[in-house]
Amino acid sequence: MMKKIDKIFDKSKSMSLDLYLEKVLYDKNFGYYQKKNPFGIKGDYVTAPNISRVFCEMIAVWLVSFWENLKKPKNINFVELGPGNGDFCLALLTSLKNFPEVSSAINIFLYEKSDKLRKIQKKRIFSKKVKWINDLKKIKKNPVVFFGNEFLDALPIKQFRKINNHIYEKYACLKKNKVDFVFKKALKKQINKLKNYQLLKRDGIIEYPEYGFKELNIVCNKIKKLNGGALFIDYGYKTENNIDTLQSIMNHRFNNIKKNIGNADITSLVNFNLYRKYFNTNGLIVEDVINQSQFLQKMGIIERVEIASNKMGHKEKLDLYSRIQRLIDPSMMGRNFKVIFTKNKNCNFSLAFK
Ligand SMILES: C[S@@+](CC[C@H](N)C(=O)[O-])C[C@H]1O[C@@H](n2cnc3c(N)ncnc32)[C@H](O)[C@@H]1O
Repeated sequence: MMKKIDKIFDKSKSMSLDLYLEKVLYDKNFGYYQKKNPFGIKGDYVTAPNISRVFCEMIAVWLVSFWENLKKPKNINFVELGPGNGDFCLALLTSLKNFPEVSSAINIFLYEKSDKLRKIQKKRIFSKKVKWINDLKKIKKNPVVFFGNEFLDALPIKQFRKINNHIYEKYACLKKNKVDFVFKKALKKQINKLKNYQLLKRDGIIEYPEYGFKELNIVCNKIKKLNGGALFIDYGYKTENNIDTLQSIMNHRFNNIKKNIGNADITSLVNFNLYRKYFNTNGLIVEDVINQSQFLQKMGIIERVEIASNKMGHKEKLDLYSRIQRLIDPSMMGRNFKVIFTKNKNCNFSLAFK
């Protein structure tokens, strides 16, 4: 195991936190997402599409309404960012059968970084409508809708510490063959980026998703050029929050971040206000960031479940209701998970957000 860690560090003594996370999560030989199927009871965690297909139906209905708002284009691209085990895409394909016009207009692209997960998706999804894409720039025409569930939290972040006007950046290093973290004086260009986003108002830990912003730069450009929007659902916060939110999960439990490296997931909470600022400064708009509970209820999840459960037996009904409760109950996923939608300045589509 330690030999592999040596390889991650190679000859470098230390590396920035985001580069380290990129390697432990996605390195071709060592990375967590390259060797594990993390989803489900036998994996490390479950996501909303794994919990219930009704979650996916709500996104499908939202997408159909957006397509109508875009004046029913004959061709529309839908890009799922980080499709995981493919559950969402499969449910979307099924739901769209109820909307033949959208079904024939849509081209679905799956944007997946992990070779292992791409293989799993390809084993499960057989539809001429679906293509895998490794470069978002290849989408050249027709409006485009991006969607990512638990995509933003999976992107490596940088961490800084501010103490009395001194800014330090977190680095990972090897100490006696064990991973440790140290803070080094931050570079001026990094400090300027934090300043631009007004992240230096308070002391404490500052998290900055440089990788995420790079990925989303193409997303913003495509929306500006081709029209459309991007919807993200993730766990995170809207308040100012100068704390360390990096967390590691294994077997559905929190794991010490310095242990089980390459065998445990590492994520961070999403700073939704920061992403909102990011979209606003990149030529798009965000009207509001709402809770998953509000989004799903505005999309009619309760009514949908009542109709679906009419024909169900007692046990099946109980199972469905407990899954939906997990998605919308504020003490479960309802409040921690938030929804952000970004679009062009002249777009008046705001379903579920008003
Ligand atoms: C937490 S999982 C969520 C999976 C799925 N969306 C779900 O809700 O079940 C994160 C997904 O994003 C993918 N991913 C992370 N970073 C990525 C990147 N930069 N480009 C493409 N996919 C990425 C992961 O491999 C994985 O499929």
